[in-house]
Amino acid sequence: MNRLDGKSALISGAATGIGAGTAGMLAEAGARVILGDISDEEGRAVAARIAAAGGVAHFIHLDVSSEADWAKAVTLAQKEFGGLDILVNNAGILFGRNVEEASLEDWQTMQAVNQAGTFLGTKHALPLLKKNALTSPQGSSIVNLSSVSGLVGSPIDPLYSMTKGGIALFTKATAVGFGRSGYRIRVNAVHPGVVETAQGRQTFAARARKLASGDAGEARSIALANHPIGRFGTVEDVANAIVFLASDDAGFITGSSLVVDGGLTAQ
Ligand SMILES: NC(=O)c1ccc[n+]([C@@H]2O[C@H](COP(=O)([O-])OP(=O)(O)OC[C@H]3O[C@@H](n4cnc5c(N)ncnc54)[C@H](O)[C@@H]3O)[C@@H](O)[C@H]2O)c1
Repeated sequence: MNRLDGKSALISGAATGIGAGTAGMLAEAGARVILGDISDEEGRAVAARIAAAGGVAHFIHLDVSSEADWAKAVTLAQKEFGGLDILVNNAGILFGRNVEEASLEDWQTMQAVNQAGTFLGTKHALPLLKKNALTSPQGSSIVNLSSVSGLVGSPIDPLYSMTKGGIALFTKATAVGFGRSGYRIRVNAVHPGVVETAQGRQTFAARARKLASGDAGEARSIALANHPIGRFGTVEDVANAIVFLASDDAGFITGSSLVVDGGLTAQ
């Protein structure tokens, strides 16, 4: 199930965290992958580990807010794989600042990565995804990383919520548009709860600043208690959902929001 043999994928923010785990799992499922990130050394190391395990992986420097970088990443996909079947718009940032603390510059930076990054990835990968969709049984697939903060408000970082809520609706809008245009490209969003990556730990630090104790351990316990399932998510939990949506097993799923949050938003 969820096999991706013969498929090629491009994933942003793939040097660490959910992106790195997803790149590995896409390759394990049989896809050839291009990993893009601004963190070159770590990204190259992840690609090398995938290749050492028998996968096909290339790293390219990709700042998702740069149109020129996206053009280069897509050119690499064309050169190495002759096209693309899967795009994962994963790169994302969070500052953990509320409205009183955040500046206009914070907003512009976050918007450029989270939202412009998702838009530019979609726009530049579209021609290759369209072409491969013509010969693929269930078409091509785009998976966008939103968040639980794109479904319910995050007081920790309202600007992050604004970008992730926008990604959720951009997902639906492009799913409908591509479907109606006959492109055979499915577009879906994944909404993770807290995963203890660098970004997950950033949310503990932001929470701790609001506590009298200022203690990150206490902040972590409060965040944990928000997850009815009794644990945080893992990179694998989220990567499994992404691989499923990328695969032909999800052939009738488009415009959906797959919540991977241990019940956080069910309460
Ligand atoms: N960790 C969580 O708790 C959580 C929860 C919900 C949603 N998410 C979302 O999942 C995605 C992955 O998050 P993560 O937890 O793995 O974060 P992370 O901070 O561990 O990794 C993010 C990666 O994105 C890269 N990146 C940052 N800016 C970039 C840019 N301009 N261009 C290209 N790459 C860039 C970083 O170098 C890093 O490798 C993000 O979109 C995030 O918002 C994470």
